[in-house]
Amino acid sequence: MDHASHSTLNPAGAAAEQISQLFYWMLAGGIVIWGVVVGLAVYAIFVRKEHPLRMTRALVIGGGAVIPTVTLSGLMAYSLSIMPELHRPAPDGSLTIRVSGVRWWWRVEYLTDDGEVEFETANEIRLPVDRPVEFKLVSEDVIHAFWIPALGGKMDMIPGRENRLRLDPTKVGTYGGVCAEYCGTAHAQMMFRVIVSDEQEFDAWRHQQRSDAIIEPASNPFGRQVFWRRGCPACHTIRGTEADGSVGPDLTHFGSRMTIGAGILPNESDALKRWIVRTHRVKPGVEMPGFESLINAPVELDALVAYLEALR
Ligand code: CUA
Repeated sequence: MDHASHSTLNPAGAAAEQISQLFYWMLAGGIVIWGVVVGLAVYAIFVRKEHPLRMTRALVIGGGAVIPTVTLSGLMAYSLSIMPELHRPAPDGSLTIRVSGVRWWWRVEYLTDDGEVEFETANEIRLPVDRPVEFKLVSEDVIHAFWIPALGGKMDMIPGRENRLRLDPTKVGTYGGVCAEYCGTAHAQMMFRVIVSDEQEFDAWRHQQRSDAIIEPASNPFGRQVFWRRGCPACHTIRGTEADGSVGPDLTHFGSRMTIGAGILPNESDALKRWIVRTHRVKPGVEMPGFESLINAPVELDALVAYLEALR
């Protein structure tokens, strides 16, 4: 699988840059306090006997109170000063995306300026560089938390509530996102991808996502048949077909996504076969049933996988 950075210390967004700067300042402050305290302890060991009073004063005033208070107060003032900046609202004209936490994947809806759903996808978010984006964060079941360490964040997703998070991607690249609030069995396997590209590439992707799935019925009618016969449309939508389930991820442009199972496997046919057949071994607790019987029906499995991979 491609490399997706999860590093807060290698920031690619305005908020993450500030958080990483804060981290380095705190590190420096910690080093100062550590140096003073250890220095005084060493001093105490060697001069304790000769000048007990001077030593006590130095320890209490210098090591115990003054220097830590000054250093920590400075750090607190600095961290408070960047907080309004981290929580400023998104300006008009920002891209708006609603992300819902679902055990254990992400429903991603791009919204129009009027707040209507323009299109839905899952477990992958594409953003144009240098344009503010506002995430509307909701949950369909329990509390999750939305976090893209390289861009900034994180923010809780609470049932019955909409939290907003503004991010400003500043560098083109592929970044990892995670759920940062324990939400049950597959919490650690609730991940997503964020791909930041230039405006042109983003527009092309958006245009493609808005349209129905491109399927050539003649090329693989059997795969489509398997998809229906196995009951997949009960949970999954493929726009442009009659499959309109909404329990699971929208599969309209599934073949164009980078991963399967909310960021845990690369989107390749072997991995997809494993996912469909051994769903619960790959991701214990997942709602999707495993289709173990397809092991004995390789022709069906191949056709189904080919059908899904062709959805673009
Ligand atoms: Cu969702 Cu942890």
